[in-house]
Amino acid sequence: MHSFHYINSVLHCEGVDLESLSQEVGTPAYVYSARTIRDHFRALQKALGSLPHRLCYAVKANSNLAILRLLKEEGAGFDIVSGGELFKVLKAGGSAGQCTFAGVGKMPHEIEYALGEGVYSFNVESEGELDLINAIAGRLGCKAPIALRVNPDVDTPTHHYISTGRHKNKFGIGLDRAESLYERAASLPHLKIRGIQTHIGSQILRAAPFLEAIEKLTPLVQRIQARYALEFFSIGGGLGIVYQGALASGDAAWWAQESRGEKLSAHDYARHILKPLEQLNLPIFLEPGRFLVGNAGVLLTKVLYRKETPEKNFLIVDAGMNDLIRPALYQGHHDLEPLVAPDDRPLEKIDVVGPVCESGDFFAQDRRLPRMEEGEHLAVMSAGAYGLVMASNYNARPLPPEILVNGSTASLVRRRQSWENLVREEI
Ligand code: LLP
Repeated sequence: MHSFHYINSVLHCEGVDLESLSQEVGTPAYVYSARTIRDHFRALQKALGSLPHRLCYAVKANSNLAILRLLKEEGAGFDIVSGGELFKVLKAGGSAGQCTFAGVGKMPHEIEYALGEGVYSFNVESEGELDLINAIAGRLGCKAPIALRVNPDVDTPTHHYISTGRHKNKFGIGLDRAESLYERAASLPHLKIRGIQTHIGSQILRAAPFLEAIEKLTPLVQRIQARYALEFFSIGGGLGIVYQGALASGDAAWWAQESRGEKLSAHDYARHILKPLEQLNLPIFLEPGRFLVGNAGVLLTKVLYRKETPEKNFLIVDAGMNDLIRPALYQGHHDLEPLVAPDDRPLEKIDVVGPVCESGDFFAQDRRLPRMEEGEHLAVMSAGAYGLVMASNYNARPLPPEILVNGSTASLVRRRQSWENLVREEI
């Protein structure tokens, strides 16, 4: 279901030759496939079938305006976590009325901005936040729509940095405290209870924890719904994707699999959760991020140097941890594919590292790859989610450009940052 494949030995994104594109725009550069994003969006819609639902794209995964616009056209709402993300959604032609506003640390000016724009719901994560939203709404003379994010205390099989559904995590309100906080919300004059929300983590490849969270929350949802006439139950995001072997299998949206051999398709995910959700008789919101855009993006990079030492061999490439931090931060695996297919090249065991001055700046360690020479290009696969959005200017490296491919058209949707712009805000 993704649109990266070799044609005449050259890696293409849809109809665009990535080797020629690399030479044209330079590297490092992010490239996204519009078709893949649409396919994944539609696959998830289809899997959810007749369940009354709405997909609120988790903007944090990739907030390029062109991608927001594309998803808006598909009918997505948006899950945002900052005033900046709301600003971007509005810039992309979306409206605040399509946005749920998540996050444990909403700032007063962000709350005021979102209220002024008419945000659909604040997903509230603490008592203090509830009081602050009530006070700001009072000052503005309006009622703020809210949902409580409830933490179901379930174990999620994922990297511990992106697991959010345990009571020890900073997220949400404990199951045992949620009902009294709803009572408090109902007693505050400037709040309107709109929904209930949960999110247990990210890159999850088993249906069981999602189901467990839904089942744990169901009695509460039913009680709250009876008292306050809820408009939605959001079950968050978190559906994982293929990071290994996606190119070979070609059906990433359907079969997420890890090296451990676990699999979870959109269809299977839906099949497990549909029944208990249908019984609730309440519109269900989902907040997918990675699932929609993860396999839809690659980071193109060039081999600058081969460095061979008695201990190890290195390919030093021109992309670094500042461009894609997932391997350094989460030990995330990304497949690496040469842009020109390596039919007759020998395999070698090698580290692929960036130019940044840290030993954590690597894309692969001891990876078996076809031998690559200086000047050749490769693609860091499945970099469409949590790639450029987490990039930084560390080592005063400008942010890379982004290109959106649609069929055989490649459009520059973010230009490469200039050195001048590196210092623009400095005084
Ligand atoms: N909803 C909420 C409230 C979230 O916190 C998140 C992600 C999502 C939805 C979307 O989750 P997804 O469907 O993308 O799994 N930077 C990390 C992932 C951080 C996820 C943060 N929250 C990574 O690169 O793996």
